[in-house]
Amino acid sequence: MRDELHTEHREGRGDVEAERFWEDHYRRRGRVWSGRPNPVLVDIVGSLRPGTALDLGCGEGGDAIWLARQGWRVTAVDVSVTALDRAAADAATSGVANRIDFRQHDLLALTFPSGAFDLVSAQYLHSPIEFPRVHVLQEAASAVTPAGLLLIVDHASVSPGSWAAPEETLALLDLSPNEWHTERLEAREREATGPNGQRTTVTDNVIAVRRLAR
Ligand SMILES: C[S@@+](CC[C@H](N)C(=O)[O-])C[C@H]1O[C@@H](n2cnc3c(N)ncnc32)[C@H](O)[C@@H]1O
Repeated sequence: MRDELHTEHREGRGDVEAERFWEDHYRRRGRVWSGRPNPVLVDIVGSLRPGTALDLGCGEGGDAIWLARQGWRVTAVDVSVTALDRAAADAATSGVANRIDFRQHDLLALTFPSGAFDLVSAQYLHSPIEFPRVHVLQEAASAVTPAGLLLIVDHASVSPGSWAAPEETLALLDLSPNEWHTERLEAREREATGPNGQRTTVTDNVIAVRRLAR
């Protein structure tokens, strides 16, 4: 189901558990994420001409703010108001608040922001709370404009065996090859810094598919 977003506040009637879990997650620890944009996003989107972007599960806004700085007009969605408040504060500090529309939205409720976007980005859209990921990612695909890009980046190495390989995820989305061109489909390693400052190698599953122009 596709819902209109009418206010800056909550939409849909999600399972309160998802909201409670993620609110608790963000409130308990102060700032959770680094605030820096995700490296795969920077690598793949950095050379694209800016347009409209939808960031699903934007968290504390590192990606949304980076996109806005590159000239994108961003709609950034998360279930956690605390995360969105932090993101909005950082966007204001960064001088890009007018380019980002932050929305509290529970994708678990199977509602979805309205509109079509030149870029739809789902970076590590994982949740320990039951989450209809395939449905949400299919909705994400349907929100991409002709010639636009769907970018999905998942953790492959957090919990070995528990995430699908990128090929499996793409197959589940069931995108018609008459309508979509696969630009990237890969597991790629990168160096990252763990919570205690330790260097570690993590693997990202990357799917970048472009909707063909009509
Ligand atoms: C692993 S974090 C990734 C955050 C961000 N994309 C990043 O890369 O730093 C997953 C994000 O998805 C959000 N999320 C989880 N379930 C959600 C839901 N049902 N609706 C909307 N957002 C959700 C969480 O609040 C969290 O910010």
